[in-house]
Amino acid sequence: MTKDEIILANREFLFPAVFHYYKTPLVISRAKDQYVWDADGAQYLDFFGGIVTVSVGHCNDTINAKLHKQMDTLQHVSTVFAHEPQAALAKQIAGITPEGKLTKSFFTSSGTEANETAIVAARCYTGSSEIIALRHSYHGRSALAMTLTAHASWRLGGVPQPGVVHAHNAYCYRCPFGLTYPDCGVKCAQDVEELIRTTTSGRIAGFIGEPIQGVGGFITPPKEYFGIVADIVRKYGGVFISDEVQTAWGRTGGKWFGIEQYGVVPDIITSAKGLGNGFPIGLTVAKPEVADAMKGATISTFGGNPMAATAGKAVLDFIEEKNLRVNAAEVGAYLKGKMLELQDKHSLIGEVRGMGLMLGIELVQDRKSKTPATAETGMIMEATREHRILLGKGGLYGNVLRISPPLNISKTDVDEFARLLDRSFAQVQVAAPVSR
Ligand SMILES: Cc1ncc(COP(=O)(O)O)c(C=O)c1O
Repeated sequence: MTKDEIILANREFLFPAVFHYYKTPLVISRAKDQYVWDADGAQYLDFFGGIVTVSVGHCNDTINAKLHKQMDTLQHVSTVFAHEPQAALAKQIAGITPEGKLTKSFFTSSGTEANETAIVAARCYTGSSEIIALRHSYHGRSALAMTLTAHASWRLGGVPQPGVVHAHNAYCYRCPFGLTYPDCGVKCAQDVEELIRTTTSGRIAGFIGEPIQGVGGFITPPKEYFGIVADIVRKYGGVFISDEVQTAWGRTGGKWFGIEQYGVVPDIITSAKGLGNGFPIGLTVAKPEVADAMKGATISTFGGNPMAATAGKAVLDFIEEKNLRVNAAEVGAYLKGKMLELQDKHSLIGEVRGMGLMLGIELVQDRKSKTPATAETGMIMEATREHRILLGKGGLYGNVLRISPPLNISKTDVDEFARLLDRSFAQVQVAAPVSR
């Protein structure tokens, strides 16, 4: 198919809810390591990785060699049969969860299913049903996951699931209480207790939160936040679920899981995306007592599929062997430095935030009013396309650039990315100078 035929077929044969970045969709035809090529053969430096998913580079040779071998050995049997790839991956994950305490895994094919499983497990374990989620969160696209999600634009179809209430998130740049950290006493975390006492029965099944809110615009809470929340949640009988669909596997630098940056050991961790480096996989890993409470039987046809499990294990081995958690910390710090330099140059940049190789840049019309620069963010996205770098867009107001390159990215790639992003900003500032 030609590029135009692909775009036309997308319009004609896919749900229109399948949206694309850019005024004209970018048709990608192939990819290798940190690069993708479009249908016209143009090369782009990919600092988004298919939404924080390509963790160790596109079509990674080491991962793919193992996948090719597995493809010719055993491709699918379903969860009603035992096989080595799933057992080996579950064993490996049990050995790297916080304090080694989450040792039982359930595999599915997406982050949405991972979160569904976590909520069912929390309800079975506690005998309660009510869940606390966070505003600005994103947890997936099933009816329950859309109810957990707190962005109007990602909640389709009326959001019919009862039993979910939303706490204010720790969005320090736009504090929901109008306070300033650290003088605020982390009011947003303390407020979870008031929320439980006033909007639930007082006996909750659990709390679900992202260590860094991904779709929400890489919103990064202060260090004490999750510790305070975990204590409150447990006081009211709930389990703590860390949604690490974006933040796991070294993404935040140094640690395997984002929640470890906050010193909290969750009861359940969910993940997906980067574990498969592009191969569909979902993971719910829990403390044994939580997993054991899910009595009865359940099936996931593709869960722990030999191919997906092989991809997951290959990715974890690669991250370990190449020391990529450390690379994410070091190159991430270097990247953040570069982005802060851009903030000094371009007044559109209100805040640079995030950890490791998960950085957000929030754009504002002026730094005092912090009016979201939504239109300008769209223009920056178009300009970055012209300059052949890929990055993501997010945030409730659509004004946050999301940067999440592969964990094996180098400082040279960062230099090139920063140079091209700088040019993109310069182009937009010239084209549409904003008042400040
Ligand atoms: C934090 C988080 N949780 C859950 C999901 C849902 O994952 P999936 O799209 O694989 O269903 C996403 C997807 O972006 C996510 O970012």
